[in-house]
Amino acid sequence: MGKPQLFSTHVLFDEPRKKLAEHFDVEYWTGNERPPRPELLKLVSGKNALISLLTEKIDAELLDAAGPNLRIVANVAVGFDNIDVPACTARKIAVTNTPGVLDETTADFTWTLLMAVARRLVEGDRMARSGAWTKWNLDQLCGTDVWGKTLGIIGLGRIGRAVARRASGFQMNIIYNSTKPAAPEIEKELHAEYMSRDQVFEQADFLSLHVPLNDATRGLVGPAELARMKRTAFLINTTRGPVVQETALIDALERGVIAGAALDVFEREPIIPDGLRRDNVVLAPHLGSASVETRTKMALIAVENAIAFFDGKRPPTILNPDVLRLGI
Ligand code: GLV
Repeated sequence: MGKPQLFSTHVLFDEPRKKLAEHFDVEYWTGNERPPRPELLKLVSGKNALISLLTEKIDAELLDAAGPNLRIVANVAVGFDNIDVPACTARKIAVTNTPGVLDETTADFTWTLLMAVARRLVEGDRMARSGAWTKWNLDQLCGTDVWGKTLGIIGLGRIGRAVARRASGFQMNIIYNSTKPAAPEIEKELHAEYMSRDQVFEQADFLSLHVPLNDATRGLVGPAELARMKRTAFLINTTRGPVVQETALIDALERGVIAGAALDVFEREPIIPDGLRRDNVVLAPHLGSASVETRTKMALIAVENAIAFFDGKRPPTILNPDVLRLGI
């Protein structure tokens, strides 16, 4: 019997590619742009395994286009809001993601954004680079202190905790809201205090979002939440764009309801509305987990999941283990 057929929507990195080649007949999408939908629907046809990025919508239409031989979708991301997991489960298709390996890297980047917006780094870079900097001035590009301020975290999961851990060096006061309070030993380790969501919005100087995107969190930050924030506060989003109502954020920035924002994710990536292209907003093209080390680990996890599945083993980070019991 030949090797299973796998389609990967990205070329991945050397190490994961080598591993894949040992176990699968692999076809890669090699285009510079993400695969256009009609093409993707053709390319997945008849495949046994699929490695996808967060940019690919894995829905019933795509699963039908793949056909009955598709057994696993291995997403190279921890977030899996791009995948219709129930539709996969109904077709006995395993779904995996990449939890655990990107927490610290994403927390680093959250702090990169937080510091950049607080200290006006992007504006400063632009001034220095363009030659517009002609003299030092006492009140030039003065930002706001980070140290000693209150960091508000919405969602104290692995990434939220990694962000909180970094705050202690800045002598910050840490408050958080999560679906439930963390265990007392975690609160103690992080010096974090549980509060209602409204209180976190009201008291934070820097409000950082770390909830996954799902039905409960879509649009979580809207006009009412922004209105609760201090006029001097900053919103940091490194999770998923649709957690924030982008038009409400633009309106709040225009009216000075909050001081600024630092955003790595957007409602309709890669579209960034003009209203966000402001000096008091730092913009990044979804780079949270983008270190070579971490992105390689993420690709390796996807590969290991696919290999385990076809070896008859439980994929290490399976999201719908029920399919294993359904007898494939
Ligand atoms: C990145 O956004 C991820 O979900 O891994």
